[in-house]
Amino acid sequence: MVNEKIIVERLKNIDLLPTFPHIVHDVLRVIEDPMSSASDIAKHMDASMVGEVLHLANSAFYNRSGIRKITSIEQAIAIIGYEHLAHIIFQMPFLVLTKKEDRFMDVSGFITHSSLCGMFSKNISLTTLLGNPNDTFIAGLIHDVGTIIIYKYFYEEWKEIYFLVHERNKLRLEAERDVLSVDHGVIAAMLLDLWDIPKSISNPIRFHHNPEEAKEDVENVAAVYIGNILAKQINFNLIQDGLANFMTSNMNIVKEIERFRHPLSSNEEVELFKRVFDALKEFKRIFRGPEDDREYDE
Ligand SMILES: [Fe+2]
Ligand SMILES: [Fe+2]
Repeated sequence: MVNEKIIVERLKNIDLLPTFPHIVHDVLRVIEDPMSSASDIAKHMDASMVGEVLHLANSAFYNRSGIRKITSIEQAIAIIGYEHLAHIIFQMPFLVLTKKEDRFMDVSGFITHSSLCGMFSKNISLTTLLGNPNDTFIAGLIHDVGTIIIYKYFYEEWKEIYFLVHERNKLRLEAERDVLSVDHGVIAAMLLDLWDIPKSISNPIRFHHNPEEAKEDVENVAAVYIGNILAKQINFNLIQDGLANFMTSNMNIVKEIERFRHPLSSNEEVELFKRVFDALKEFKRIFRGPEDDREYDE
């Protein structure tokens, strides 16, 4: 079994977009500055990165093929909006690893799940005051990139994990910990720590499956943990049933939130679900959403 030291050594060799850590810091600054604009984002990206982002924005991964083509960052903001462009920017360095649909990796499902988790985590922070919405948005967007890193850079271990999950019915997290000594949350956080990404972003990723173990950034951890649970249980086909039904079928989220803070008032509850429901409808409108109700299980 590999140990953490070996993992760090291998992570150090990942030459995945060396500019990415800088981009994260730049985009974070832009997100935090309400006066910023499209050109502020574009000026922090080099031409190949802009090209990659536009390529992805138009790709089938985002279910936008066949719709009006996006040809510039400014147009991307006009068509898909600033927040959804941020999804693509943050997921891009990891998605370039998975250019084509892969037999073993449901890339569209991964993107949808990651984007929902980012939006939900942010809205949970905004309405319940759990954590910082900018941190939890980004952490939510890339919380599962560890699964891509394992697949691409720890392929022998990935095959063992695959065997344990599919032939031995092990839970994925347990299989990861058996084979790698850590799970995909920890691997992603180790990489982000090597890149000097703020701990307030890497900690929620590290602990998104075991929030009770976090000692720092506990509120950010809680928001992303809950955002992930909500993202996993979303069924796009039920959106048409309306907000009241959406609330009823996702009420477990309130109990999860109350594990980490005082009980929500009924106004806070409604505000939370309204925001999350609106974000979900908007996501489906822009990206058409998956036509099926497949689930993503990380
Ligand atoms: Fe996960
Ligand atoms: Fe997840």
